[in-house]
Amino acid sequence: MSSALLALDPDLVSLSPADPLNFTSIHGDVSAKEEGDVVVYQFRNKTFRLDKTKARERLAGKMVINGHRSAELNVLPLKYTEAYRIYKQMKANHWEPDVIDMSKDAHQWNTNALSPKERWIIEMSIGYFSAAEGIVGDSVLHVIEDNLTAAELKHASLRHIAEESIHMDSLLHIIGSLNIDLDEVTAKFQDIPSIRKKNAFITRHMPILKMGIDLTQTVNKQAFAKALFAITQVMEGTQFYALFAMVLSLHRQNKMTGIGQMFQYTLRDESNHIALGRYILTELINENPDIWTEAFRAELVEFMREGVELEKEFVCDCLPEDIVGMRQQEFLDYVEYNADRRLSSLGLPVLSRVRNNPFGWLDEVIFLKKEKNFFETRVTEYQTSGSVRNSNEDDLI
Ligand SMILES: [Fe+2]
Ligand SMILES: [Fe+2]
Repeated sequence: MSSALLALDPDLVSLSPADPLNFTSIHGDVSAKEEGDVVVYQFRNKTFRLDKTKARERLAGKMVINGHRSAELNVLPLKYTEAYRIYKQMKANHWEPDVIDMSKDAHQWNTNALSPKERWIIEMSIGYFSAAEGIVGDSVLHVIEDNLTAAELKHASLRHIAEESIHMDSLLHIIGSLNIDLDEVTAKFQDIPSIRKKNAFITRHMPILKMGIDLTQTVNKQAFAKALFAITQVMEGTQFYALFAMVLSLHRQNKMTGIGQMFQYTLRDESNHIALGRYILTELINENPDIWTEAFRAELVEFMREGVELEKEFVCDCLPEDIVGMRQQEFLDYVEYNADRRLSSLGLPVLSRVRNNPFGWLDEVIFLKKEKNFFETRVTEYQTSGSVRNSNEDDLI
């Protein structure tokens, strides 16, 4: 078999490895004959000649950027198999926000079971993420996916975008369930300086990339690489995590468990988005080593450093002082810890001296519970109805 055909994923097509290079076989009234790289099928009075060199040409033309462009989104033959593996992992984690039981959250919200500082964390989460999920979705669509040329990378990115829509949907489900004032939510991402600064910082380089730039020039390739890094490693990979940890700390105390459950699922999704972004970036650099200059590497580290500073300011706005079960310093350390994780995974120097994850239990939630089947838990929820406590994720942490 040709290398092009070997690159096909067995989940997509089934080929018989035992087929000889040259053969004639007859199954009923169909005959197939291999003539070099051409397979000739005879079907009654019709003949089809399939030229396998086209698959090899297609494979050879696949590049992260500046590759063969086609109107089709045909992933075959697969070249970037890791992107397809991540796509399948994303699909395996599929979940639906509107079936998550919010009755306990609504009760706690409406009976003042939360302290004002705990309420503020929930409000900031909704305020920040309602804008941030949209920024990620829009940027992956118009900045990343639009500029990619390999179909399987586009395909996985489209799943990424779809998951951002699910995350936006989860916020609407929260807002609707808790009866939160929409105007106030909207005002948060416009009127709170730390949120405004974070969003402006991430999006400031995006407009030019949305217009379609010449990606054969090194400076433009670097702009694209930086955008990939900004969205997937700085924003999703670093700036989302402290707030996730705050909400999941409340969940751990049995507070706002419906939101906590949604954030757990979101966090699982984010870990795949970070992995996909890192993979695309790594392949991009392998194919375009002119991007990876010392000056550009330093620029990425500096960008992360700025992102960390903005995030720490935001953490202090969300949690101005220690409260029961939450120490501000641990969240600040967590920001640095995650930033360093993202940098070192790309072979870049780390920024901080934080070596231990202050929230080891959170990694366990993200990485060890992935096998949890959303649809199995959903059946339980239907059976127990909205008035009964969620029996699923609460027991896991
Ligand atoms: Fe998201
Ligand atoms: Fe994401």
